[in-house]
Amino acid sequence: MAQYERNPPLNDSDVLPDPLAQFERWLADAAAASLVEPTAMSLATVSAGGRPSLRIVLFKGLHQGGFTFYTNYESRKGEELAARPEAALTFWWDKLERQVRIEGRVERVPRELSDRYFHSRPRGSQIGAYTSRQSQVLQKREELDARLAATDERFSGQDIPLPDYWGGYVVVPETIEFWQGRANRVHDRLLYVRAGNAWRMERLEP
Ligand SMILES: Cc1cc2nc3c(=O)[nH]c(=O)nc-3n(C[C@H](O)[C@H](O)[C@H](O)COP(=O)(O)O)c2cc1C
Repeated sequence: MAQYERNPPLNDSDVLPDPLAQFERWLADAAAASLVEPTAMSLATVSAGGRPSLRIVLFKGLHQGGFTFYTNYESRKGEELAARPEAALTFWWDKLERQVRIEGRVERVPRELSDRYFHSRPRGSQIGAYTSRQSQVLQKREELDARLAATDERFSGQDIPLPDYWGGYVVVPETIEFWQGRANRVHDRLLYVRAGNAWRMERLEP
């Protein structure tokens, strides 16, 4: 059983009053820690019937105080978010013995932002996003490979346009929890709860 003893205690006075600034601080620590995917986060959504589903996506920056990621709007997660625009996110930075949990409302990011991000990606990724009907059943891999080649040929010598069915979401946080491992499973947990235009901080039992 791993003992979490890497960190000094997480005191109330060690964190910033603004949880977004505190998140950026921890993300910078994660980025400096040679992790494989420091921006990977689990994203939980809920179906219209209340069944949860979970998958990993990449965090692509803060936008107006919310956490952004990019995906296919017609994917399973896209359908679920259309029906119930609420989500939970979890980062787990194993080497740092730290977890961050976020819950909130979900909106689409402005189209210009999706366009800018889409076109910042390598052409192969643009072709993939344009072509893949994410979450649909595919009879054979070869069929997708042929469609990818067709997209490449269709837009030969041109930009791949941002498709209507692809873009970003922003999770506007209602709560953000910072979790840090301590010995004997007696971990530190600091929970920020939105209170109007400000944040209230509470300590939770481990
Ligand atoms: C490390 C990692 C990063 C990923 N990043 C993304 C991402 O940023 N956007 C995305 O749509 N899928 C990403 N995926 C794939 C998703 O986990 C998932 O397979 C896909 O989005 C389909 O999910 P859905 O069917 O629930 O909509 C990533 C997977 C892994 C393992």
